[in-house]
Amino acid sequence: MRITAAVVPELHADFRVEEVELDDPHPGEALIRIVACGVCHTDDITRHGDLPFPPPGVLGHEGAGVVEAVGDGVTNVTPGDHVVIGWPFCGECRNCLDGQPRYCFQIGPLVAGGGRPDGSTALARPDGSPLHSHFFGQSAFGTHAIVGANALVPVAQSLPLDLLGPLACGVGTGAGAIFNVLRPELGSSVVVYGAGSVGLAAVMAARCSGATTIIAVDLQPGRLKLASELGATHTVDAREDPVAAVKEICGGLADFSLECTGSIEVLRQAADSVGMRGTCALIGGAPAKAEFTLDHVSTLWGKRIVGILGGEGRSVQLIPGLIELWQQGRFPFDRLISTFPLEQINDAFAAAHEGGVLKPVLKMD
Ligand SMILES: NC(=O)c1ccc[n+]([C@@H]2O[C@H](COP(=O)([O-])OP(=O)(O)OC[C@H]3O[C@@H](n4cnc5c(N)ncnc54)[C@H](O)[C@@H]3O)[C@@H](O)[C@H]2O)c1
Ligand SMILES: [Zn+2]
Ligand SMILES: [Zn+2]
Repeated sequence: MRITAAVVPELHADFRVEEVELDDPHPGEALIRIVACGVCHTDDITRHGDLPFPPPGVLGHEGAGVVEAVGDGVTNVTPGDHVVIGWPFCGECRNCLDGQPRYCFQIGPLVAGGGRPDGSTALARPDGSPLHSHFFGQSAFGTHAIVGANALVPVAQSLPLDLLGPLACGVGTGAGAIFNVLRPELGSSVVVYGAGSVGLAAVMAARCSGATTIIAVDLQPGRLKLASELGATHTVDAREDPVAAVKEICGGLADFSLECTGSIEVLRQAADSVGMRGTCALIGGAPAKAEFTLDHVSTLWGKRIVGILGGEGRSVQLIPGLIELWQQGRFPFDRLISTFPLEQINDAFAAAHEGGVLKPVLKMD
């Protein structure tokens, strides 16, 4: 079928909104009419080559919409269902069977392979030349997408689909890091480096936990102000010495830190912010082939450094849970969102880059 999608024509290029051809769903897949798709920093670093997804192709991995058709063997959704598109997974490897599909052994090809596991793609230009598809199993910067049905999370028809896509990646990543991995105990301290949508979701989630000291660190005063409104008990201007500030606020080192900027320099600050038996979570997406160094002794003394993909856990648990917290007024993630029409996709990325907008969401109609 003919659809409209934002194509990345080549590495580093602007998005180009084009008419393209979309395949029918293969077995195990569903055709989704995309209502809206969030813009994640990971789309941007992929456009610039830090994930191996090959251009030309369509990015977008925070889609939400309506099921229009399903391929053979799909039983978890039917046409008409409203869905958020979660992360892809194979369902058969050891980690999937262990209930940890974020660490599916196939996660690399499933998120950035550029097509289906059999090598086919779901998208082509009208002249028949293939476009890479299935970015994070979805490629949702368009009016429609073909997705692996096992990643779909059905939601109530009464919910606003134009808000929900970011729960699948950026917002779910920050919140899931707190709820699924760090699980701060009563009276603990949490330092969040980077008050973008990922970091602020972590702040909101920490506010729902027993953590009593929640520190947000960022370069942008506006984001620090919002962090305070969303639950940070303290904010730190990153231009100061943030580790010294953390020590002063906590009266020593913190229990938990989250690196949500993608900067290796900040990662070191986050690691240095936690002490013995403290945990530092790596979340930000750094440039391809980035490496980091740590202080040996202070790490050896019982410090944990843990990488976290997509907030861990399972989309079918994380997304409905966050929706319920939002409905109860305890997780106001809608405050992060600004909507743009698909045609303004380049403006949406620029606005996020400049910092004026936290979480752009592209609306398809
Ligand atoms: N691990 C995962 O599964 C996963 C999922 C989604 C996003 N990500 C990554 O998480 C990161 C955050 O995503 P986002 O959408 O919130 O991005 P964002 O750009 O909106 O937020 C990053 C924030 O970091 C701040 N920052 C930059 N330099 C800083 C410094 N030196 N000290 C403190 N703060 C600084 C920026 O001002 C900004 O507010 C990105 O790198 C993204 O690629 C990872
Ligand atoms: Zn798997
Ligand atoms: Zn993302």
